Amino acid sequence: MSRVTQAVLLVLTVVCFVLVVASPKIKIVHKKRGFAVHRFAAEKILQKGFSDDRPLAVRLTSNATISASPSVLERSGDSVTVTWSGVSNPHTDDYIAAFLPNRNGTTTIPIRYKKAELSKDYLTTGSGSLEFNLVNHREDYTFVILKNISAPSIVAISTPIRFKLGEKEPTGPHISLTQNKDEMRIVWTSANVTTPTVKFGKQPGAYDKSAIATSTTYTREHMCGGRAKTYGWRDPGIFHTAIMNNLTPSTKYYYIVGDATSNIWSAEQVLYTPHDSTSTTHVTVWGDMGHANADGSTEVDQQLGARDVTRAVANEVSQGNVDLALHIGDISYARGYSHLWDEYMHDITLVSSRVAYMLSIGNHEMDYPGSSSYFQGEDSYGECGVPYDVRFPMIRPEVKFPDRLWYSFDLGYAHYVILSTEHNFTIGSAQHEWLTNDLKLVDQTKTPWVIVAGHRPAYLASTGKDNEKVAEEMRKNLEPLFYEHRVALAFWGHHHSYQRTCAVLHKKCTKGAPVHIIVGTGGMHLSTNCIKLPHFEYVDCSNYGYGRMKITKTDLIWEFVLPDGTVKDKLQLTK
Ligand SMILES: [Fe+2]
Repeated sequence: MSRVTQAVLLVLTVVCFVLVVASPKIKIVHKKRGFAVHRFAAEKILQKGFSDDRPLAVRLTSNATISASPSVLERSGDSVTVTWSGVSNPHTDDYIAAFLPNRNGTTTIPIRYKKAELSKDYLTTGSGSLEFNLVNHREDYTFVILKNISAPSIVAISTPIRFKLGEKEPTGPHISLTQNKDEMRIVWTSANVTTPTVKFGKQPGAYDKSAIATSTTYTREHMCGGRAKTYGWRDPGIFHTAIMNNLTPSTKYYYIVGDATSNIWSAEQVLYTPHDSTSTTHVTVWGDMGHANADGSTEVDQQLGARDVTRAVANEVSQGNVDLALHIGDISYARGYSHLWDEYMHDITLVSSRVAYMLSIGNHEMDYPGSSSYFQGEDSYGECGVPYDVRFPMIRPEVKFPDRLWYSFDLGYAHYVILSTEHNFTIGSAQHEWLTNDLKLVDQTKTPWVIVAGHRPAYLASTGKDNEKVAEEMRKNLEPLFYEHRVALAFWGHHHSYQRTCAVLHKKCTKGAPVHIIVGTGGMHLSTNCIKLPHFEYVDCSNYGYGRMKITKTDLIWEFVLPDGTVKDKLQLTK
C-alpha cells in the first residue's frame, strides 16, 4: 500500500470516528469520488440559508485542515486561536464554527461562528486564523470549516478542544437575597458532584467559612413543548444552591464554589453584601437583556445591545457601589435553546456573582399554551418558566410554583415588590391577594419607599395595541392598590425603550401617585413605535441603557444611563 493511500485511509478512519462517536445523528448517505458525504438535520444555523428541514452536508477533504490552540482551556470563557488552511475556492460565505457534540443525540447546531473572511487574506490564500472565547458547556468542542452558505457543507473538523476542569468546572455563579438579612444565596452550575460547596471569607484566599449546597436540575420532560423539548434541548447541568450566612452588611467577601470531594473549584470571586436598613443604597435596574458573544462571533440568536449594557452595569458593580441589580424580565432570551442559558450566565457573571441579582419573570421565560402562564402565546418556545424557576430561586423558594415567582423584600429604606405579569394579576387571583396583603404590611416608617417591578408595563407610550390592552388590564386591577399604598415607583420592561410618566393615576398626573418607568433597554433590539402622550415626561426609543437609583430615607434619585455613562434622564423624589 502506498504512503498516499495509507494517509487517505488514516484520514477517513479519523473522520468516521469523529462522525460516529461525536455526532450520533450524522450518517453516511452517499460516497463517491473519494469524498465521504454525510448529512444531518440542522437547525437554522447561519440566520439565512439553513432551515430545520434542510440538511447540512459534511464534505471532508484531505487537504483542508483546522485546529485550535490551546487544545485544553484553563477556565470557561478563555479564548482559543483557531487556525485553518487548504480550503479550495475560498468564498465570502465560508464560516468557522464551534460545535458541541450533543450527548443527547438530538440535532446539533453550532454554538458560535465567524465569517472566515474576517481573517486577513483568507479569500486569496484559503488559510487564516481567528480568536474565539469558549464557555464550558460540560462537553468538548470541535471547530469546523463551514463552506458555501447556499449549499452548506463542512470541509474540515478539528480534534476536540476541552476544558482542564472538565464537566465539573463550576460556571455561572449568581447570588441573591434571602428572607434573612445576614444571608445570601448562591447558585452555580456544573455536572453532578459529590460535595458541592461554597467557601468564603473577608480576606482573599483565606476562606474561614463554608456551606454545602443542595443540588437540583430540570430535564427535557419538564419542558412544555416546542424547540425547548426538541432540537433546542441540551443537558443544562446540575444547579447547586448554598446559603452563605452570618454575613456583615456592606462588606467585600471573597469566595470559591466547587466540589470539596474532587477538589475542583472556581476561580476566586468577590461579593459585595448590601448596606443595612439604615443606610443609603444603590440599585441598577434593567429589563429585556439577552446574550451577546464578547468575541464578536455570531450564533443562532443573540442581542447585540446586551454587550455594552452588561459591560456598563458590570463596571458599576466593580466599583463596589451597587447593593442590588434588578433585572425585570426577559433575561437570556434563550427561548428554548438550552445552551443560551449557559452563555447568558457567563455574560452576566461579573454582575450576578458580585451583588444580589434579583429577577422577575418575563414572557420569554414563561409564556406557553397549556402552562400556568396568563398569556397563552408561545414566547418561551416551550420553556414555560422551568429553566428560570430552577436557575433563580428568589426570596420564597419553599412556596409552590408559580406563586414563588412573586415576592418582596426590604433593602435600605425601600420595600421592593416583584410581580409576575405573566400570571394572573387580576382582582381575586392568588397574586393579587398576595400583593394586597404584602402592601398592607409595609411599615413606611422603616421603608418609606415602596417600589414595584414586573415585566409588562402598566403604562406605555407606543402604537402597540396588544401591549396597551394588557396595560389597561394592569391599571384596572393594580393601580388602585398602588395608589392606596403610596407606591413611589413602578418599574417595567417588555417594551424595548425608556419611558417615564409623571406621578400618574388613571392616565392623569396626580400628586402622590406612582411614577411608572419602562427600562426595557437592556439589549434586545429597540422598539421603534414610541408616541407622545400627555402623562409621559420622557420617552426614548433610540438608546440602550439601564437605570441607576440612589435611595436615602428622604430622597430617591433615579437616572437613566447610557452604556457610555451619559445620563439621559434624571428624577428626584423627596419625602
Ligand atoms: Fe417581554
